[in-house]
Amino acid sequence: MPAVALRDVYRRFGSSVALAGATLELERGEVHALLGENGAGKTTLVRVLYGMLQPDAGAIELDGERVRVRSPRHALALGIGLVHQHFMGVPALSVAENLALGEPGAPWLGRDALRRRAREMLARHGLELDPDATAGELPVAQQQRIEIVRALERGARVLVLDEPSAVLAPPEVEALLEMLARLRDAGHTVVLISHKLEEIARVADRVTVLRAGRSVASRPVAGVTAAELGAWMVGDALPPPGEPPGAAGEAVALELRGLRAPGLAGVDLRLRAGEIVAIAGIDGNGQGPLERVLAGVELPESGEIEIGRPPLALVPGDRQRVGLVLDLSPGENLVLAEASGQRGGTAFRHGLLRPDALRAAVDEATRRVGVRGAGAPSARALSGGNQQKLCIARALRAEPGVLVAVNPTRGLDVTATAAVREELRAQARAGTAVLLISTELDEVLELGDRVCVLFRGRLLPVEAGRRSRARIGELMLGGADAGAETPA
Ligand SMILES: Nc1ncnc2c1ncn2[C@@H]1O[C@H](COP(=O)(O)OP(=O)(O)OP(=O)(O)O)[C@@H](O)[C@H]1O
Ligand SMILES: [Mg+2]
Repeated sequence: MPAVALRDVYRRFGSSVALAGATLELERGEVHALLGENGAGKTTLVRVLYGMLQPDAGAIELDGERVRVRSPRHALALGIGLVHQHFMGVPALSVAENLALGEPGAPWLGRDALRRRAREMLARHGLELDPDATAGELPVAQQQRIEIVRALERGARVLVLDEPSAVLAPPEVEALLEMLARLRDAGHTVVLISHKLEEIARVADRVTVLRAGRSVASRPVAGVTAAELGAWMVGDALPPPGEPPGAAGEAVALELRGLRAPGLAGVDLRLRAGEIVAIAGIDGNGQGPLERVLAGVELPESGEIEIGRPPLALVPGDRQRVGLVLDLSPGENLVLAEASGQRGGTAFRHGLLRPDALRAAVDEATRRVGVRGAGAPSARALSGGNQQKLCIARALRAEPGVLVAVNPTRGLDVTATAAVREELRAQARAGTAVLLISTELDEVLELGDRVCVLFRGRLLPVEAGRRSRARIGELMLGGADAGAETPA
């Protein structure tokens, strides 16, 4: 069992995909090199491991146990340290003071005690540095040593170095590689990001090659040639980034089987906890009936809907007619569904509305989704965009297991649109299954872990390798092979 494993990690920044299925397995007592072209995703991957970034999908395992690394502090507590390319300490402080940074109790130590501790630390790792030197005046190589010693002293058993040699002169590189070999021999796991093949050949036991966010090969260094590594790095043109594996293994949150209704010609869909499935399509291809059937206001003629993770909450496409009771206040709209007692809300006691609960609901909606004017006497007084936000706030209030959002950003300004999209992503990260039905192609591409197209009442999956505006456009028009009936 590997000491550390990152499996099938996906991470996007806006529309740019940094990681699209990266896997890295690290053994105890090895130096593992991470190789790849500029932009391949190396730094992003180690930042995920160090808790600086949260993955969109994928898992981290320590000794076979799945963990969520919440922050760099948490990473260190788990024994994972990262040495940045640039000095992260305080330049104006001495070496000894930098080594004591963040240590409980350190502020009360005198100069002599600090110096003594620093000497001990440096000796433990076989490094020479003057404890009294000002960190900011030291050469980069020595600043790097401070970082390494800090990470090790804070308990890092897994030490990740992101291009440590890029800033070093040749003799300093030698010293660094020797130190990494010593750490390996002492049982540490070392991850070395480097563009230099000779370094990798000299010190690494294994190498993993990343290309376009995916791991393409992981091999013992002894068995590979520079030519092979080069070929893996550059390779032939890859198909566009794939989809997260539908959070495979996660519980099925919503399943539609052979759903038929006027306008729906047999819809099959399986949605898992934590994933966003986006349905594109031109209005009038079944969006309305699908929404109504999911909302339970229209019964299907045949087929089944199974909600594995209730409740299902809906952000309806038509906020004026379906979404809100415009004569009620925003707060009343938020808690309306709880009056029947079905939603298990806390806004009503013995059938009476609690004013404090109403205020809390309004505050929450303002804070979480940025509803402006939530204190207004009637929802009618809100701008269209704020009515839309109110619908979203209400859906979130239900703490849904399945969230169906129909054109959730229609009519919203740029800032509100970004906020709503981020909220949907956050919901998915927290385990909610999100079904986005949207006529906005950009939104579908930005949010969907998987994308389908609704065409004449049928759901056509966009193939993992063919996700593009062109392909979606083709399917929206019932393109060449759009008739093929494959379940989504
Ligand atoms: N914070 C960010 N915001 C937007 N895009 C980002 C961000 N961080 C990384 N990216 C993008 O993700 C991709 C992978 O970047 P990453 O820094 O992981 O590459 P790398 O393999 O470390 O490259 P290099 O060898 O140049 O350091 C790039 O396309 C990059 O532009
Ligand atoms: Mg990098």
